[in-house]
Amino acid sequence: MQKKVTKAVFPVAGLGSRFLPATKAVPKEMLPIVDKPLMQYAVEEAVAAGIDTMIFITGRSKNSIMEHYDKAYELEKELEAKNKTEILNLLHSVIPPNIKCIFIRQPEPLGLGHAVSCAEPVVGDEPFAVILPDDMIYDGTRGCTKQMVDLYEKTGSSVLAVERVDPKETDKYGIVRTGESKGNYAAIEHIVEKPKPDVAPSNLAVVGRYILTPAIFEKIKNTGRGAGGEIQLTDAIADLMKDEQVLAYEFEGIRYDSGAKLGFLIAQVEYGLRHPELKDDFKTYLKEFAKTL
Ligand code: G1P
Repeated sequence: MQKKVTKAVFPVAGLGSRFLPATKAVPKEMLPIVDKPLMQYAVEEAVAAGIDTMIFITGRSKNSIMEHYDKAYELEKELEAKNKTEILNLLHSVIPPNIKCIFIRQPEPLGLGHAVSCAEPVVGDEPFAVILPDDMIYDGTRGCTKQMVDLYEKTGSSVLAVERVDPKETDKYGIVRTGESKGNYAAIEHIVEKPKPDVAPSNLAVVGRYILTPAIFEKIKNTGRGAGGEIQLTDAIADLMKDEQVLAYEFEGIRYDSGAKLGFLIAQVEYGLRHPELKDDFKTYLKEFAKTL
């Protein structure tokens, strides 16, 4: 019987240099979008997909991520004493009781493929999700990861979330060429990491969501350094495709590239406009402000 996807890997060891000096002491994954750290949106998406084990691949100066997912005992006692039930519930909602969090240190920043391979001792012989918190995806319903888990359950194949990007920007992404479309998914025929626009096989880009079969771990072990001198997940996936079908899935929803300053600002505005407490006042403000531009 096909195993269920119960584990998600969050590679969060990156230096966040694009957001310096904000990220000198604070991990970029802890920067807030409205009132929640980036990281929390990614974990909530995993929870919505039925995943119960969160595996964080961390590095130096990322301890606050661990703090965020730990019980804040003193804070809870104080809120209890002051009868601040609403805030207390908010705090409890950060990590529902059935969810396990596991932290693994990536000893050296050797690339996304290497980061994912650090999770092997915990993932073992099961399919798993990889979620890059920088890529926020809003679909207003079940979440992108759940969409992908559903496709995995239907096909038993690894699934990569993809979307069309500006052809001038192919060198920021893993790029795929696919075979015959089956509606919103298709088998990948070719995948390459960050090709220059003139050699890119298409403008269909991999965004930060993957469901992978455990066979990927053996492939990563045999993957040498690729684009940028790093051990690339994309190269290991290309190798996996020799043995197994890998699907590209055009997800439903809007992606925000919160790893870039403009994408981060756009996410602030759009999540602000959806926030139940803020949306009306914020919209009024934006409308007035737009008149001054
Ligand atoms: C990583 C992957 C790349 C993918 C991208 C999505 O690149 O290596 O294939 O398209 O995430 O965000 P990074 O953005 O970490 O350089």
